[in-house]
Amino acid sequence: MLNARLSAGGIVARMSLDAPSLIATRMRMMRPSLVRELLKRATSPNIISFAGGLPNPKFFPNMSLIDASTDVLANDGGSVLQYAVSEGHPGLREWIAERYRVRFGLDVPVSNMLITTGSQQGIDLIGKVFIDPGDMIAIERPGYQGMLHALSVYQPQWAGVTLNEDGLDLAHLDRVLTESKAKLLMVCPNYQNPSGITYTEANRAAVAEIVKRHNVMLVEDDPYSELGFGGKSPTSFRKFLPEQCIALGSFSKLVAPGMRIGWLIAPNSVYERFVIAKQGTDFHTSNFAQRVLHSYLKATDINEHVALIQNGYATQCAAMLKAIDRYFPAGTHITRPDGGMFIWMTLPDEVDSVKLLDEAIDAGVTFLPGPTFYTDGGGKNQLRLSYSQSDEDKIDEGIQRLAAVVMRHLDAAE
Ligand SMILES: Cc1ncc(COP(=O)(O)O)c(C=O)c1O
Repeated sequence: MLNARLSAGGIVARMSLDAPSLIATRMRMMRPSLVRELLKRATSPNIISFAGGLPNPKFFPNMSLIDASTDVLANDGGSVLQYAVSEGHPGLREWIAERYRVRFGLDVPVSNMLITTGSQQGIDLIGKVFIDPGDMIAIERPGYQGMLHALSVYQPQWAGVTLNEDGLDLAHLDRVLTESKAKLLMVCPNYQNPSGITYTEANRAAVAEIVKRHNVMLVEDDPYSELGFGGKSPTSFRKFLPEQCIALGSFSKLVAPGMRIGWLIAPNSVYERFVIAKQGTDFHTSNFAQRVLHSYLKATDINEHVALIQNGYATQCAAMLKAIDRYFPAGTHITRPDGGMFIWMTLPDEVDSVKLLDEAIDAGVTFLPGPTFYTDGGGKNQLRLSYSQSDEDKIDEGIQRLAAVVMRHLDAAE
């Protein structure tokens, strides 16, 4: 009865609300990130950030996107601003398929492609479609922290696979897949986040042979492959495993992350499940954003735009490598990427990179500590440096500051 909860005096008798107790167990188990809390301190404009994996805004095609927005709104506003199909705008899907043909010589059926709200949503959809609580997921050690975050809510168990400079450690991969019976193997083979390494062709072929012997789906998370320095273009696992690979891609590093447009390519055996999961999540990725992006891509020489970004990051990467070689102490090991946005640093064993971040913020420089990228407490003396956001002078200054902090940290640890 509507009035049953009215007391004699007409005052509503409310049960006291305990909102936290209403939150799902899976969400309560997720912990706030210590690193995020530390970085909240890094607000001064004098801080030089090597922490975030943000594309450099100087490469955003602002003026061309104004033209593209005007084009689609003026010519087709009724449909551009309407609901649309879940799979994504057909013209944009065709454009992506053509890019796979041109770059990789791969034939990717448009009917196996779903436009997603960034590749981050692709990761989340993979969780929805594949992961029951307790399922085993194999992932690179170190692996992309956003992947760990997005999938943790589905309550998997993790099995780390050692990553070497040429790709996955093959013996370890075979052992992990055999022992863990993992459902999914998550890899970022091109200019990997966080290490910057790229799997060699031989490593990919060998990984594919191992994967074929197991009941596992390989997930290729590939937002960086367009960023090869000097126009290098690494390949896709779809070449080796067309029926056993889900490929995720993104326009975030190629055009702009604020567009929030990525894609997912899945074999026939599971594709429909993704369309259903996408429908339940957000019906479709912003139709307006997809149409603006497609209009922009049609009007642009994308190779010219990509070359601009590649050259910019190549210069910034070279500046960071040079500064590290100059200022850092002996015993420092770094990766030397030939694309992407990240350098991975391994310092002497006694370094604690979380504490080091605390000290570095005081000295006006930030990075991401290694443990952020492991599911099993690894990475204590490691860190990720992103060179994408700073120009050469800032990079030199920031690395000089960081090296001084590292020396003090090592002195104190003695
Ligand atoms: C490895 C990797 N995967 C996925 C993403 C998500 O990218 P987006 O959702 O912007 O496409 C990122 C973002 O930095 C990334 O580094």
